[in-house]
Amino acid sequence: MTTLPAGYRTAVVPPERVDEFRTVDQLAFATSPDPEVERLLPFPIPLDRLMAVEGPDGQYAAVHGSYEFAMPVPGGQVACSGLTWVAVRPDHRRRGLLRSMISTHVERSLERGEPVSALFAAESSIYGRFGYGSAADDVRLTLPRGAALRPVAGSQDLTVRLERVDPAQHAGLVEELHVQAGRGRPGWMPRATPALQARSVGDPPSWRHGFEPLLLATVRAGDDVRGLAVLARKDSWGEGGPDFTVKVRQASAVDAAATHRLWSFLLDLDLTATVETPLLPVDDPLLQLLVDTRPTRRRLNDNMWVRLLDLPTALAARTYAGPADVVLEVTDTLLPANAGRWRLVVDAAGDAEVTRTDAEAEVRLDVRELGALYLGGRSATALGTAGLVLGEDRDLARLTTTFGSPLAPVCPWIF
Ligand SMILES: CC(C)(COP(=O)(O)OP(=O)(O)OC[C@H]1O[C@@H](n2cnc3c(N)ncnc32)[C@H](O)[C@@H]1OP(=O)(O)O)[C@@H](O)C(=O)NCCC(=O)NCCS
Repeated sequence: MTTLPAGYRTAVVPPERVDEFRTVDQLAFATSPDPEVERLLPFPIPLDRLMAVEGPDGQYAAVHGSYEFAMPVPGGQVACSGLTWVAVRPDHRRRGLLRSMISTHVERSLERGEPVSALFAAESSIYGRFGYGSAADDVRLTLPRGAALRPVAGSQDLTVRLERVDPAQHAGLVEELHVQAGRGRPGWMPRATPALQARSVGDPPSWRHGFEPLLLATVRAGDDVRGLAVLARKDSWGEGGPDFTVKVRQASAVDAAATHRLWSFLLDLDLTATVETPLLPVDDPLLQLLVDTRPTRRRLNDNMWVRLLDLPTALAARTYAGPADVVLEVTDTLLPANAGRWRLVVDAAGDAEVTRTDAEAEVRLDVRELGALYLGGRSATALGTAGLVLGEDRDLARLTTTFGSPLAPVCPWIF
């Protein structure tokens, strides 16, 4: 699809060149080799999903990889190729290597039968041009110690146990609670492989930045674990005494009582002054429970970016607030097979049929905006007010309802 500059070629990455793959990534992201990390944490990307671009000297000039995800979408899940470790050596940038890698990624994902791709963008201005739409936001909170929560029945009956994380013992439990806590939330990627699970509780000394080794707090009803947090504290003694920071890497609870008990514990640890949350969905229960949100600092960021690769398959893989019958006219310069008019018919159960049509379009939009709408976290009406989705107000309002999700999408861990 896209041609590389003269002398460059696309190459698969054999096991003996994985170190070189890592070196390109380190050069692009200004990190250094860390034998301790490599010893403690297995390489997370399946080797057959690594790709490189070789430069004229035969060395890797650019690399990328992808994860095989079952991405939760409204009403189900869809095979998703999670683009990651995208890196171009600084001395080979801005000559089209990323553009060529995106083509490779798209082709290979489609060959594997993955109708959707998703990513986290290092810089948010990069991927829209390739048809990725910003499909979710996340919020990170910095809370003062003692922030009060509205009461929740049953919270008092739960107990909390604190211990050091033992990766071998706890990785499975941490993932189990992660999945349970995200039930029904679009975009909430499971970490299905042992390598990704090992990372979720990975604690190499170079990742600590002055924080203590990781702790695990479990919320229990008897022996039943109803919630957990992976966290660490950093000590700091100011003129006014201790003002430690608590950094919460993951907070997962199966219901409101466990959520309340977990955050009550995290917000009231001795010696601490501030608590930093992990990435939260914009409608996280913690935000609903806080008595006073104003002393809380909130940082909103773009979360996952979503790209529909096989439009009809992707659209039919999720459910909708039906019934509906709408004709969309889609532009897609990178993948012309997606372009043109599509009729989306949603039955009363929310299942969709997506077919080609010659009928007059009610809504016109680029595949980028369709990707933004896909997880149910964006409003077609709002995109319409920005001139990014075109149609009558009532058609955009209907599309907003049809695509909407009761829970805001998010992926709470960065891949
Ligand atoms: C970002 C990066 C992958 C771009 O690679 P590249 O080979 O220089 O990109 P290309 O030459 O293929 O550029 C493709 C297009 O993206 C644009 N682009 C590239 N990097 C961009 C950036 N950081 N911000 C905004 N636009 C960018 C180019 O201007 C070009 O636009 P156009 O084709 O519409 O004119 C590379 O600079 C890099 O590795 N950066 C550091 C690591 C990083 O951020 N990786 C991305 C992880 S998500």
